[in-house]
Amino acid sequence: MLKYVSFFLILVFVIACDNNIEYESDELKGSQIEPLEITYENVQKIFTIKCIACHNNTAYSLNYLSLEADVAFDNLINIKSQQRNNIDLIKPFEPENSYLYMKLIGNDIEGTKMPQNSALPTREIELIQKWIQEGAKL
Ligand code: HEC
Repeated sequence: MLKYVSFFLILVFVIACDNNIEYESDELKGSQIEPLEITYENVQKIFTIKCIACHNNTAYSLNYLSLEADVAFDNLINIKSQQRNNIDLIKPFEPENSYLYMKLIGNDIEGTKMPQNSALPTREIELIQKWIQEGAKL
């Protein structure tokens, strides 16, 4: 019995350490959003750092969703997705019915999971999720 208990404890320890390592390597990427307060300002920071390389005002002229700070909010709230035109990009209070959030987690989407080049760290996805859940306010 003791053997099983200690095996379990070691397993928990290993998993805990593993999470830490992931967390630290996230930090080292150098583009983390701190502090992670649930505000539109922090959501926009994620868009600016992680999305506008592709989703910018220049590409928007080619019918592309722009996430630049001056237009992102207006382009998202209660605006239909181009890929799935029965779903809003952001539907306040309903992250699971917000196409932008679905694209971040890769759930029931057309095309690829966003950002195209690498997934967002979990806590940045959670920040966007909670912001939508709280009403997606400016
Ligand atoms: C390397 C380029 C690139 C980056 C970076 C990128 N995207 Fe995209 N995004 C695309 C392309 C290309 C499409 C269309 C094809 C597809 O969905 O795979 C797209 C489509 C989308 C759509 C669907 C738009 C609609 O109207 O249906 C959303 C939402 C989206 N991206 C959100 C994001 C968010 C949020 C980020 C940052 C966290 C991001 N993207 C980062 C290239 C990118």
